[in-house]
Amino acid sequence: MSDKITEVQESALHAIDEAKTLDDLNNVKIQYLGKKGLIQGLMQEMRTLPREEKPAFGQKVNACKQEVTAVLEKKQQELEAAATAAKLEAEKLDITLPGDKVRLGTMHPLIMIQQEIEDLFLGMGYKIAEGPEVEQDYYNFELANIPKDHPARDMQDTFYIDPNTLLRTHTTAMQMRELEKAKGKTPIKLICPGKVYRRDDDDATHSHQFMQCEGLVVGENVTLADLKGTLEFMANRLFGEGRTIRFRPSYFPFTEPSVEVDVSCPFCNGKGCSVCKGSGWIEILGAGMVHPHVLEMNGFDPEKCSGFAFGVGLERVAMLKYGINDIRNFYTNDVRFLKTFDRFD
Ligand code: PHE
Repeated sequence: MSDKITEVQESALHAIDEAKTLDDLNNVKIQYLGKKGLIQGLMQEMRTLPREEKPAFGQKVNACKQEVTAVLEKKQQELEAAATAAKLEAEKLDITLPGDKVRLGTMHPLIMIQQEIEDLFLGMGYKIAEGPEVEQDYYNFELANIPKDHPARDMQDTFYIDPNTLLRTHTTAMQMRELEKAKGKTPIKLICPGKVYRRDDDDATHSHQFMQCEGLVVGENVTLADLKGTLEFMANRLFGEGRTIRFRPSYFPFTEPSVEVDVSCPFCNGKGCSVCKGSGWIEILGAGMVHPHVLEMNGFDPEKCSGFAFGVGLERVAMLKYGINDIRNFYTNDVRFLKTFDRFD
């Protein structure tokens, strides 16, 4: 009988020795030390022994159980330590690896220009007015002195939603809303930046959606000289010190007189280069004195007050400032283009 105990003990110790993982060891534990395990089985066999042999046999089985338990626990500690070490090894951080870059979005170049223009006019005490892109014919055309069959309507191919509703073709619509709102009270000093829409075929210099910023000043004794001084200040801030501007006669239904404004070429300082096509001047915006009829229609007395207005295309300014040669770049959302405006890369 006692041979059998030795046999069970040896095979248990061998199995413990062979166990490679905690799972293996747990199986060995169940097989030998479990309630229905082999060592417990030896205890059962004790019942069949003669009375006088029982104590010695019992002691031997207990000794066997203790020995197997002790060896098993030791092995368990070893395996646990090895498992922890393996886990630590697997989770090891290499703090010398380069970190992941957090990608920040970039400011869109048109927004950069818009903010630059807003800042410079806020500094001169202008307020910023914003309004709907889906506009009424009334504000976009009628109040701006462009009645229904006026030929000037053809100058701006319009997206109509219904005969009285359209996508605004110029931010002048906002100026009309502001004039109407002022109910004849001066002074008015504001800029209206925003998106506008025209039925143009898109190419390198045309886009059916683009951005404008218009300015409007109405008050007593506002003159063309005020307009010129204001625009010269803007040109210097946008394109660098030393810019001069010149007016050329033009036509807009809502201004009289109307002018086209050129800025002395910032690339060649007026000497003539490929950007200004040798002329030394670059056309940047349209402007003029608010038409007396527009003042009248909006409830102002043109005998008592006058005003100037101007409208600048933000794409044009951005293209000149950043040397961009295709207007479609602003709207195709190509990250390679936008990334060139990332200050943090
Ligand atoms: N509204 C004109 C345009 O879109 C620009 C402009 C604004 C001209 C104000 C004169 C005065 O072309």
